[in-house]
Amino acid sequence: MSGPGAGPAPDGPAAPFALRALGPDDAETIADLEGEVFAEDPWSRAAVEEELRVPDRRYVAAVEGGEVLGYAGIRLGPDADIMTIGVREGRRGSGVGRALLADLLRAARESGSQRVFLEVRPSNEAALGLYARAGFRPIGRVRRYFRNPSEDAVTMRLDIMGARRS
Ligand SMILES: CC(C)(COP(=O)(O)OP(=O)(O)OC[C@H]1O[C@@H](n2cnc3c(N)ncnc32)[C@H](O)[C@@H]1OP(=O)(O)O)[C@@H](O)C(=O)NCCC(=O)NCCS
Repeated sequence: MSGPGAGPAPDGPAAPFALRALGPDDAETIADLEGEVFAEDPWSRAAVEEELRVPDRRYVAAVEGGEVLGYAGIRLGPDADIMTIGVREGRRGSGVGRALLADLLRAARESGSQRVFLEVRPSNEAALGLYARAGFRPIGRVRRYFRNPSEDAVTMRLDIMGARRS
């Protein structure tokens, strides 16, 4: 399955990639990538397995020739939560993160979510840029939300256009 953003970048020769849904069988691959992308505070293998198993989640990977370039996940519901998004260091800056996030937001819209929330480190300029570009706006701050290293979180929110109101 391919998604928005898949394919050559408009301004560069980046190779095409495809998006595919992840499931419990992908736990080992994703746990390895988790250790690479979030080396300072990765989810355990057990936590990854649980995330890929729970029914109200959507996890998706960007793949190219059998290699996973990045992955992302969301908890679906009226108020959805972005759980994670990460792209291999050497593949950042070529639209992979944007495509993964677009896939999660499409899943949120299709499942009837009204709002999408996330927490991000205020020092994470790339992630802040990615989310702002997708329409997320900062709505608050949570003291010492992150560990390794300890840091506040900026909470961001996106209202899904056209969602049914509760
Ligand atoms: C955040 C992350 C997922 C972005 O993925 P990516 O594939 O590099 O992002 P893209 O190339 O799709 O860029 C999409 C948008 O993000 C923003 N962005 C990406 N890298 C950026 C950077 N270094 N500085 C500022 N903004 C940046 C831009 O708005 C960009 O849009 P543009 O290209 O039109 O300017 C990636 O940097 C990453 O994996 N970081 C480590 C893990 C992490 O911090 N995850 C987020 C936890 S909240």
